[in-house]
Amino acid sequence: MADWGKCLDFGVSIARQARTVVLDAFEAQKVVSLKTSPADLVTETDQGVENLLISAIKEKYPTHKFIGEESVAAGASPVLTDSPTWIIDPIDGTTNFVHRFPFVAISIAFAVNKQTEFGIVYSCMEDKLYRAQRGKGAFCNDIPLRTSGLEDITKALVVTEIGTERDDLSLSTLTSNIYRLLKIPIHGIRAVGTAAVDMCLVASAGADAYYHVGMHCWDIAASALIVSEAGGVVHDISGGKFDLMSRRVIAASSRTVARGIAQVVEAFPCERDDGLPDADQAIGALTQRDGHWVSNDFLKLPCDKPCGIVIESV
Ligand code: IPD
Repeated sequence: MADWGKCLDFGVSIARQARTVVLDAFEAQKVVSLKTSPADLVTETDQGVENLLISAIKEKYPTHKFIGEESVAAGASPVLTDSPTWIIDPIDGTTNFVHRFPFVAISIAFAVNKQTEFGIVYSCMEDKLYRAQRGKGAFCNDIPLRTSGLEDITKALVVTEIGTERDDLSLSTLTSNIYRLLKIPIHGIRAVGTAAVDMCLVASAGADAYYHVGMHCWDIAASALIVSEAGGVVHDISGGKFDLMSRRVIAASSRTVARGIAQVVEAFPCERDDGLPDADQAIGALTQRDGHWVSNDFLKLPCDKPCGIVIESV
């Protein structure tokens, strides 16, 4: 098995350089442009930091590929192949950055054969550098991370995001999901404004779960590995297998908490990052139960009688 440790060290060194650019620009007046919605913002610093990261990596690793948030916004294709690929969000939490709300992160993941080998999330204002390498644990500023391990959803602090969609279906799904979770009841819901940091909070036991529909692969590729290396679980919003390109995720302290969330939240239709059909349209909402993939409706039933369709044994 190849050891990508040197690549990880290089990623950490360029994340540190990029942080200085973010810090220098944080208090300054910004030129803000819109992308997919009136709430989907981008600044010159997002583009500048992405260019800085990509040119540094290209110089060191000329054959490696990239999926970068701002390159995709500029027309690049976000297709993940088996080639070594850097998945980059130069500023996760751009709305926070624009408003000087002090939670913004640089997120860098590295995948080979479509498997994430390492992830780096630099929460710039907090000066917290999260990193994980596959099979080698997760750390924040070199201190090992462990999720809370919480099993009882009624004691959970859950993080989610409001996202950038402003259409009726997305907004009503979002608010009814929050309503249903609070009615379980759970201890509380928080939104920090950066998916990468949200998931690192789960990894470091500051929160017990995070779920969201609508973020992109570059927002969560690094932090998904950080959560699993910290002992957490990462699933699709239906409770099924996590798919990086699907724009749906639950990250949790335990399978039980992930399942509790999957039972009450619903997804609105969302175009995948790779352009393939939406998971719900393609295969129905699936989840894993007793070693099988079953339809999510099964988990939503109050009784224990198996009435979901078994899709595939695992
Ligand atoms: C956004 C953040 C936010 C999430 C949005 C993302 P960006 O990323 O991760 O938490 O709710 O869906 O687009 O645009 O700031 O990199």
